[in-house]
Amino acid sequence: MVKIIPTVEKMQEHAESLRGDGWRIACVPTMGFLHDGHLSLMRIAKRRADVLVVSVFVNPAQFGPEEDFETYPRNLERDLELCAKEDVDIVFTPKTGALYSDDYQSYVKLEHLPHHLCGLSRPVFFTGVATVVCKLFNIVRPHIAVFGEKDYQQLLVIRRMVQDLNFNTEIIGAPIVREKDGLAMSSRNAYLTPDQRPAALTLYRSLVQARKRVETGERDAARILKEVRDLITAQPETDIDYLSICDPETLIDVERIDRPALMALAVKVGKTRLIDNTILPVSSPGSRSV
Ligand code: PAJ
Repeated sequence: MVKIIPTVEKMQEHAESLRGDGWRIACVPTMGFLHDGHLSLMRIAKRRADVLVVSVFVNPAQFGPEEDFETYPRNLERDLELCAKEDVDIVFTPKTGALYSDDYQSYVKLEHLPHHLCGLSRPVFFTGVATVVCKLFNIVRPHIAVFGEKDYQQLLVIRRMVQDLNFNTEIIGAPIVREKDGLAMSSRNAYLTPDQRPAALTLYRSLVQARKRVETGERDAARILKEVRDLITAQPETDIDYLSICDPETLIDVERIDRPALMALAVKVGKTRLIDNTILPVSSPGSRSV
């Protein structure tokens, strides 16, 4: 039976007592409207801990004033059913006011990682994410926590924060789960109209094309980015936020792809902002088996 804990005090008390009894706690933070991407994180977490806590909380601190906090898709009843099916032990569902009082003042801000990719067009986003994850870790006290590589920059930010602030929580990255056609699963896909679907798919298509170009020897990042830009802008209703080929640790753009690089992109399709990424692998000369 899945246990629903709506208050910070109860969650904290429960986490302390589980720890006291020697149980290993896993946490999967989410904003709800769960899909198979979220469920894959839960399965990974389940295998590595005794007690799985999933949080469902649409975090206002990570939305800019013009963004979709109010309209972000929500369906707690369905989320709880899915959690029960996945054998989740606890669903933590705090109210906004329980995490952010009227006099709230404390934020976790990273120095460098947010100055790339999504952080450029979403200036409050990573401070909001780092702050809420820090709070969730203090409440749930997890031994491990699982985050998706779909939000690659977010995963790096969390890893950095955990290292910098000495959290005793192991961070596990989980592969991107995609729809059959390749579109990366996202709660925001619910906003897409059937007409916008082909345009949304070009994000994945362009990653596949970029990987092929690198596999067949292209090393010039600008050339690949130009091709991808042409592919995406040929689709109706697309508005590119960024396309980047960068270092997978620092997120600084690279000109030549001599080592595995991260290719990341954010594109608005109509009003829906979508992100996706892949690692562009580079096989070093001489690594081929004879
Ligand atoms: P949310 O978008 O609900 O995502 C929760 C977790 O699911 C994140 O770790 C995200 O990377 C992962 N995820 C989403 N789509 C995925 C997919 N297609 N494949 C694999 N994993 C996927 O990310 C957030 O919420 C918030 O920023 C949060 C970390 C909860 C802080 O508020």
